[in-house]
Amino acid sequence: MKLHRWFAAGAVVIAAAAVAGAAPATASHPVDPAQQSLRALGLRHDLYIGTAVDMAALADTADPQYRATVSKEFSSVTAENVMKWESLEPTRGTYNFGPADELIAFAKRNNQKVRGHVLVWHNQLPAWLTTGVSDGSISKAELRDILRNHITTVVKHFKGKIWQWDVVNEAVSDPWDSPPTLHYKGFWAQNLGPGYIADAFRWARAADPKALLFYNDYNIEAFGSGDPANDKTQFVYDLAKSLRRDGVPIDGVGSQGHLGTQYGNYDTLQVAAALKKFSGLGLATAFTEVDVRSQMTAGVQAGDSNEINPRLQASAANYSVLLQACLADRHCLSYTVWGFTDKHSWVPTWFTNPPEGLATIMDENYQPKRAYNELKADLIYSGPPYVLPRVPQKPRR
Ligand code: XIL
Repeated sequence: MKLHRWFAAGAVVIAAAAVAGAAPATASHPVDPAQQSLRALGLRHDLYIGTAVDMAALADTADPQYRATVSKEFSSVTAENVMKWESLEPTRGTYNFGPADELIAFAKRNNQKVRGHVLVWHNQLPAWLTTGVSDGSISKAELRDILRNHITTVVKHFKGKIWQWDVVNEAVSDPWDSPPTLHYKGFWAQNLGPGYIADAFRWARAADPKALLFYNDYNIEAFGSGDPANDKTQFVYDLAKSLRRDGVPIDGVGSQGHLGTQYGNYDTLQVAAALKKFSGLGLATAFTEVDVRSQMTAGVQAGDSNEINPRLQASAANYSVLLQACLADRHCLSYTVWGFTDKHSWVPTWFTNPPEGLATIMDENYQPKRAYNELKADLIYSGPPYVLPRVPQKPRR
């Protein structure tokens, strides 16, 4: 009887809504999917569409469109900078969690998941740490303790609020580095040896049993020769495989997805094959920092459409390749762009010789580009049998 009353009450609510609101969607008059947000369209596949968030832009009262777009279009957010070590612990022993906590609160208000970025990386480290090591005042043994403390403190602080953590970022060299044979690179490998990677995952797991723990890197969108001496994707695959074999609690591999139209890049089948290979290890996958930059030639800067159009089209195509590949892998849980407007993109400040830009899905005035519409179309015009809902990932003990 109780059940019956519940149904009756529900029916009244539905009838009232039909009278008061706009006409509900029906099979013959569906909602126009092109009018829906990226986040709404992504959730048709249980896929989270995310963006990196610049906290200064988010707080800028003169730029309300930034904040409005983050909440309207995205179901996941990543701190572009404020969870990096130099921001969290600028002075030894003194943590500044304020800006990162603001992002978490924003995400909660807007019903968004949070990707934690980043626990262990060789860039954006505080000066006290790097100079301490170089002048010998911090020993190797102490450095390992410092790293364990940092991971433990940060992961505990955000415990229960982070969906995916980038535990280790960019640990592997590139073919243009010296020596060219791929190797573990950077501050942590140099000072602690590559064993820090497994340690970092174990320490992160001990501090938060529920967050998904990711290894994150760039230029791993597709496999190349298959030789780990020169194929970075293969090198990272071998790393992930050995971590799994050793029982290290790694749950996923994040492919950053920083592409450039001048490189040609990959087709969807290559990228989908790579994701499937990683998920074949029992790992989740994600695109974590997608942007597709272009060279800003004199013609582009002068507004020459002959030069601008092919760049915008190639950028849109590359965004789409990564999204379709992600859709094709049921273990690809999220697709995050590294900023969504050219007004706030790291590209023009980082890639200056030659100058690069046009990397995001909206222009400097928040007008959607082709790339934005292609992403929507990919989410709309996909489904069974080849695109199926995501398979939730269980954190590995
Ligand atoms: C970049 C930020 O976008 C810039 O604002 C900052 O000055 C440098 O770092 N790979 C990563 C990101 O994992 O953390 C980087 O973010 C871009 C490359």
